[in-house]
Amino acid sequence: MYITVIGTGYVGLVTGVCLAEIGHQVTCIDVNEEKVAKMKQGISPIYEPGLEPLMIRNRDAGRLNFTTSHREGLLWSELIIIAVGTPQREDGSANLTYIEQAAKDIGYHVRNNSIVVVKSTVPVGTNDDVRSVIEGHLRQPVKISMASNPEFLREGSAVHDTFQGDRIIIGTDDPETGAVLEKVYQPFGIPVYQTDLRSAEMIKYASNAFLATKISFMNEISNVCEKLGADVEHVALGMGMDKRIGTQFLKAGIGYGGSCFPKDTKALVQMSGNVEYEFKLLHSVIEVNRDQQTKLVRSAMNRFGHVKGMRIALLGLAFKPNTDDMREAPSIAIAEQLVALGADVIGFDPVAMNNAREILPEQISYAPSVREALLDADAAFILTEWPEITSIDLREARGWMKDAIIFDGRNCFALDAAESAGFEYHSIGRRTIITESSLSR
Ligand SMILES: NC(=O)c1ccc[n+]([C@@H]2O[C@H](COP(=O)([O-])OP(=O)(O)OC[C@H]3O[C@@H](n4cnc5c(N)ncnc54)[C@H](O)[C@@H]3O)[C@@H](O)[C@H]2O)c1
Repeated sequence: MYITVIGTGYVGLVTGVCLAEIGHQVTCIDVNEEKVAKMKQGISPIYEPGLEPLMIRNRDAGRLNFTTSHREGLLWSELIIIAVGTPQREDGSANLTYIEQAAKDIGYHVRNNSIVVVKSTVPVGTNDDVRSVIEGHLRQPVKISMASNPEFLREGSAVHDTFQGDRIIIGTDDPETGAVLEKVYQPFGIPVYQTDLRSAEMIKYASNAFLATKISFMNEISNVCEKLGADVEHVALGMGMDKRIGTQFLKAGIGYGGSCFPKDTKALVQMSGNVEYEFKLLHSVIEVNRDQQTKLVRSAMNRFGHVKGMRIALLGLAFKPNTDDMREAPSIAIAEQLVALGADVIGFDPVAMNNAREILPEQISYAPSVREALLDADAAFILTEWPEITSIDLREARGWMKDAIIFDGRNCFALDAAESAGFEYHSIGRRTIITESSLSR
């Protein structure tokens, strides 16, 4: 099938590459000339494990093209997938400017009867609006069928998730369109659930809000564990043995970040508010996350009284491992607070450092390795559980630092490992390890 993907970010590029891999003829359109130039040269503009070789293979096989021209990209299309960004506005609602522009672009340039699939995460009812915009801008008498097909891939394992996902959701009011899409996705061998447009749109928000709720719930439990002397890691293991609860997403930490949970939870609150429903639970989930993101700064302030002039290493800057995505990463709020409090902050991340430089305060310096970040540091904050960080040899690291003190936002180390390496170790929802030297400090 001739498929056009509009928007080649984390979702669009992975989708385009994987659809080419199962034999479709795919053209990816992006308005960003630099990205398109890179992709044409076989360079992935995003860090995503396994993506680049697959992209090159399909480009070389002639199944995958890139262009900045909507006219060229929509010439042959029978199926058009919209995967542009839907960032949040200041009031938390979804900014649909890119969606609207993509719809206009389709209207101007589509030549054949086409199925238009909205893969971007969009508020309930948006598919109807997209159809109206496309139809209002058509220059040829073509038939447009709409489908909502929200995306569930996770950055860092996006290629794997596309081939091995739990489900594919197809929302459409036209059974023929549903059948065509089911056939397109059939080679992935993933269960398909078909429903109406609005329910499909809501499934995405409800899923992300539920996962965010699990995270904030465990973070609240971890805060109570700290006060009552329980260990949240043990609590999570015991809870997860109940099949109704499940083992996933029970990890306490410094809160969720990234391009989806923060904006999608806020958009769902807005969406509910628009129909005069106050989503009280989700308000709290968002508030708990906001507090949790800067928990380590509060712990450091409690411990030291101030951080002015202290050299603090931030280990891991991306919002999670295996991605270079810095959007809404807890490192942003933490770095801003530490800089405002007068700390001397040095950051390290295996892949997100270039993106971090554009987002984090300019006062921050960067180290090329964990070791160099830790050299002479008064304390280290662990913000992302990259393998480079979870595999730190603590005994060796102790020798690099001025003071062996870690504030671990991801519970990367066993308490006895930190203790036997001689670290003062503050983690999430577990007892604090105090050393003799920390008592004298
Ligand atoms: N990133 C994720 O993990 C993830 C997962 C599931 C769903 N989503 C949703 O998928 C959507 C896309 O997310 P993303 O992270 O891939 O976004 P992104 O910001 O990484 O990429 C969007 C791309 O669209 C391009 N673009 C914007 N307007 C365009 C237009 N008119 N024509 C062509 N290209 C255009 C931009 O240049 C950019 O490259 C969002 O709605 C997001 O919520 C994201």
